[in-house]
Amino acid sequence: MRTEVCETFGIEFPLFAFSHCRDVVAAVTNAGGLGVLGAVAYTPDRLDEELRWIDEHVGGRPYGVDVLVPAKIDESARRAGRGEGGLDTMLAAVPAEHWSFLQGLFARYDVPLPDFERARRGNARGAGTQVTPEGATALIDVSLAHPIALIASALGTPPAVMVERAHGADVPVAALVGTAEHARRQVAAGVDLIVAQGGEAGGHTGEISTMVLVPEVVDTVAPVPVLAAGGIATGRQLAAALALGASGAWCGSVWLTTEEAETPPAVKEKMLAATSRDTVRSRSRTGKPARQLRSAWTDEWEGPDSPGALGMPLQMIIAEGAMRQITKVAESGNPGARALANYFVGQCVGQMNAVKPARQVVYDMMREFAEALDRLGALAAD
Ligand SMILES: Cc1cc2nc3c(=O)[nH]c(=O)nc-3n(C[C@H](O)[C@H](O)[C@H](O)COP(=O)(O)O)c2cc1C
Repeated sequence: MRTEVCETFGIEFPLFAFSHCRDVVAAVTNAGGLGVLGAVAYTPDRLDEELRWIDEHVGGRPYGVDVLVPAKIDESARRAGRGEGGLDTMLAAVPAEHWSFLQGLFARYDVPLPDFERARRGNARGAGTQVTPEGATALIDVSLAHPIALIASALGTPPAVMVERAHGADVPVAALVGTAEHARRQVAAGVDLIVAQGGEAGGHTGEISTMVLVPEVVDTVAPVPVLAAGGIATGRQLAAALALGASGAWCGSVWLTTEEAETPPAVKEKMLAATSRDTVRSRSRTGKPARQLRSAWTDEWEGPDSPGALGMPLQMIIAEGAMRQITKVAESGNPGARALANYFVGQCVGQMNAVKPARQVVYDMMREFAEALDRLGALAAD
């Protein structure tokens, strides 16, 4: 395969794999694609360890890192991230009615509460240091100290410091967008590779579908290369992405049911059974609309007793600790916890019906892609 991104990154197949799991990143890179490690959940030290592990397992082949740099966050969280007022400011910004809704939810579903005060403070610390511009900058510095081939920015236009430092280290910058207008702004900010992510995608996402968004973005930012994201899980869909003008595909959901993925077993089971109708865009986990498995958790946050989701990252303070406990209890078979458990995943979950090694997913996509080209070639010959 010789698309522009194959040439630029020295990869055989134009498939980029977003994953929080280092084993998936290494497996995809070693199979001929390009793995990108999602760094949002890591402290700088932990990220350094993960990248050292990847360096040791990819034999110099290219991989990337994705950092979440929010443009707009709650001001109390920003202050806490800077150490101004600390965790208490952030905890105080979460209204009491949200904590009592959460406690009521655990009681109704018969899920034991975790050590509440510890969980509250732990979550606030995580949200305050990582999902803030200050926290993200530390992750960018750690990433650029490794031989990464790409750094990606998940939310909003990457800050000038990210683009300057990456370009100073000769590392191209990618950014996710959900509209053509955002893509224009990203390119103006110095972004080298646009990931046009349609609303079918798992995680934070807009509303425009991949089929509509990709050609729009391609036309808007040409000659900057574009990767298509959202709903791509097969080689047929990758062929369609190239037909839309993309230079490759960027996939996130499809890795969640691979052997290597660290998806909790109860959630993996739900994903394997889910159809493409079983996801929803909800603010209930992070405060921003994110596509995830529909579950009792997402339904309850939309229900009549719900106080409504807070903004990012305050909603994360509520949701992340709660979901950790729900997932843990779900593993022991607790029916309430199993009903509530969910995770980010896109509509292509309906195509994720078997557990496979990540490298097999890449090989299957390569084969399906070749078959799709043959089929189209035969049509043209007729
Ligand atoms: C579990 C999960 C977590 C995600 N977290 C991030 C993230 O931290 N940063 C980011 O840039 N994109 C994130 N995404 C979006 C992916 O990068 C990717 O654009 C998306 O998964 C593509 O659509 P698909 O899910 O249909 O493959 C996440 C996606 C999933 C499924």
